Amino acid sequence: MPVSHVPRIAPSLLAADFTRLGEEVRAIEAAGADWLHLDIMDGHFVPNISFGPALVKALRPRCALPFDVHLMIAPADPYLAAFAEAGADLISLHPEAGPHLHRSLQTIRALGKRAGVVLNPATSETAVEHVLDLVDLILVMTVNPGFGGQSFLESQLPKIERLRRMIERTGRDIALEVDGGVTAATAPLCLSAGADTLVAGTAVFGKPDYAAAIAALRSNSA
Ligand code: DX5
Ligand code: ZN
Repeated sequence: MPVSHVPRIAPSLLAADFTRLGEEVRAIEAAGADWLHLDIMDGHFVPNISFGPALVKALRPRCALPFDVHLMIAPADPYLAAFAEAGADLISLHPEAGPHLHRSLQTIRALGKRAGVVLNPATSETAVEHVLDLVDLILVMTVNPGFGGQSFLESQLPKIERLRRMIERTGRDIALEVDGGVTAATAPLCLSAGADTLVAGTAVFGKPDYAAAIAALRSNSA
């Protein structure tokens, strides 16, 4: 069931020019992005290494957008406070990152941040079902995590539909975000399935005009 308002766009910094990150975050804010998505990779939970809390902290004064921190690290618990202190507004983690998802979400909430659960392509929506009372965001991976620029997995669309119904049953304000291979062509599929927030790396930072790229992602929204 599609949501009726304009979708949030969360450009992923992973696809930005790493030699000019301060300018990149300013430019993406000026271009009308809603959140900044920050992909944290440890070379262990995923086969790639990106950046850590020091970079999040350095960018914080340069950008007023909410920082949407996607942790692809295991264990995650020892680093939650560091990302909260660095300036994260939302902190999301994968259920596979640690043995006690409920405790991790409690920790994020206790740090005063919004908490999210990320579902890999092979992970069922049931992984989040019993912790919904602690969740502000559900992030559906439409690629395997670890790299930008991969192809969108349409197999995940029914899961997005089921999550939208699950969220509606709670009556709570829980964001439903999609991450991986989101382009102007695949965004409408995500939105029709019920997503309200789109992460896009290549489809925004890979384009010459960020405002036009963001507008293109929103263009087919209901
Ligand atoms: C993948 C990351 C994504 C990635 C998306 O592990 O979680 O956020 O940056 O990149 P694109 O939009 O290029 O698929
Ligand atoms: Zn991500």
